[in-house]
Amino acid sequence: VKRIDPDLPIGVFDSGVGGITVLRALRAALPRESTLYLGDTARVPYGTKSADSVLRYSLQASDLLVKRGIKLLVVACNTASAVSLDRLREHLAPLPVIGVVEPGAEAAVAASSHQRHLVLATEATVSRRAYTRAIRERMPQAHVEELACSLLVALAEEGWTEGAIAEAVASAYVASFFTRPEPERPETIILGCTHFPLLADAIRSAVGWRPILIDSASTTARVVARTLEQTGSLSRNSGRAKLTLLATDGPARFARLGARFLGEPLAESDVELVDL
Ligand code: DGL
Repeated sequence: VKRIDPDLPIGVFDSGVGGITVLRALRAALPRESTLYLGDTARVPYGTKSADSVLRYSLQASDLLVKRGIKLLVVACNTASAVSLDRLREHLAPLPVIGVVEPGAEAAVAASSHQRHLVLATEATVSRRAYTRAIRERMPQAHVEELACSLLVALAEEGWTEGAIAEAVASAYVASFFTRPEPERPETIILGCTHFPLLADAIRSAVGWRPILIDSASTTARVVARTLEQTGSLSRNSGRAKLTLLATDGPARFARLGARFLGEPLAESDVELVDL
């Protein structure tokens, strides 16, 4: 077995800037770990593309990260996790590959007592029913509904994450689930898309009562920490962890939107343009 070099960065891959919500949780949970993030901004969105395209893009993106040197790959994109995770694991073995769907499903099952879940995600993620499968593996009697909410992605990118418009759009998607008689209402809302944690407040207001919101970013960070511990590959670095950002198009736009998702300022010069 090839030894993992603990001083290599954690690779994080997403279709664009949204996966920075996962990067942010990783950096908070594992402040000593360097990270190498690739956003495939030239080809975003993945959520409306066919499974064949998403798989091909995912393989190309992960090959680039592996070539640069990483000790573990996080597939921060829900769509890529739902479509390509098994193939990526096969392709990259023995490199550990962690997606966001399984940790999200685990968190939802743990948080819910009646096991009634509503998954908000992209079209491609919903068509794979990946969350439904992951939840039912853990809780066979769980009731799971999945809803494609493509417009919410655009709102988050535009920075319209609060106020009347965000709430109206969120309401158009989810309100009808919550006017049902109480026993039929979802108990959790799983934010099954990288962009949706930014809209958590708008979604809460649209629902009008307090469902449990599940955001897979922090759960994924915990799974990464556990995996690094178990494989003895936590960083030995005592200095500042390095953050490297790569994008396949538009470093300026990446920096502008990415700063919002990261919660830290970013300049165009912080983002390296790459070709896959
Ligand atoms: N990153 C995608 C996801 O989490 C959302 C954006 C896209 O469609 O590419 O599903």
